[in-house]
Amino acid sequence: KKWFAVIGDPIAHSKSPFMHNTWFHEMGIDATYIPIHVKSEQLEEAVAALKLLGASGWNVTIPHKESIIPLLDDIDPIAQKMGAVNTVVRLNDGSLKGYNTDGAGFVHALEEAVGKNKEKKVLMIGAGGASRGIAFALQQYGYEQIHIANRTVLKAEAIIQELGEGIALSLEQAEKQLNQYGIIIQATSLGLSTGENKLPISLDLLQEGTIVADIVYNPLMTPFLLEAEKRQAKIVTGLGMFIHQGAIAFNHWLGQYPNTEKMMEKLIEQLK
Ligand code: ATR
Repeated sequence: KKWFAVIGDPIAHSKSPFMHNTWFHEMGIDATYIPIHVKSEQLEEAVAALKLLGASGWNVTIPHKESIIPLLDDIDPIAQKMGAVNTVVRLNDGSLKGYNTDGAGFVHALEEAVGKNKEKKVLMIGAGGASRGIAFALQQYGYEQIHIANRTVLKAEAIIQELGEGIALSLEQAEKQLNQYGIIIQATSLGLSTGENKLPISLDLLQEGTIVADIVYNPLMTPFLLEAEKRQAKIVTGLGMFIHQGAIAFNHWLGQYPNTEKMMEKLIEQLK
């Protein structure tokens, strides 16, 4: 029997065990997936233990995505570029290879929800770790026009420089030219908070039919998405990104792509 895990701190809230175990069951795969609470200072020991005990692979979540890199034998070039790993695969020779499926997970989810829209101008709001991963993935998948707006413009400029193309903006500039974008992605940590000033920018100029995505999935409808929905945007919740980052990891481990649409229905039920 194969086994897999997710390591992080905190970990109790993770939906990954439910998701992967459901897929194993649906696909008749004799495997199990468990959450393991690992604190920062325990990471090295935990990786050694996972290796010793024969885990076939595992996911890595906050706060270990960067610090696990030196503990692995090989890093996929995209993960290397992002400076973060969320998926580890134990290869046949026992060595450990790190991947990052978060950014590609976002693009798969976007395309599953609204199709390919590579010609559309993309506005990314936020310039943290999540935005970086998604920006690289969008570029890799052929999205040609990527603008990044951030409260701290310098951080947006740094990502644009790494991409080698695109434009960095202030939140105010983005707000004023919102009508030129076909895809808008909310990737700040604001989606998580409640209370006043929950929107990083005003959506006054949002055009009907614009694709608006958020990376947060709990709540499923963030304040940003609720506001966009009122203005007849096409909504993409963060749940698809979560499901597809898992599906791509699953495929790295087992060479099969699980059913993501059925999983969407199941997880929406759970998040209600
Ligand atoms: P993650 O790794 O999840 O992307 P992060 O690296 O902490 O998290 O990035 C958080 C993002 O949310 C940043 O873009 C941050 O803007 P700054 O770079 O200017 O800090 C953005 N953010 C957080 N709180 C915000 C707020 N109140 N208004 C606007 N942007 C905010």
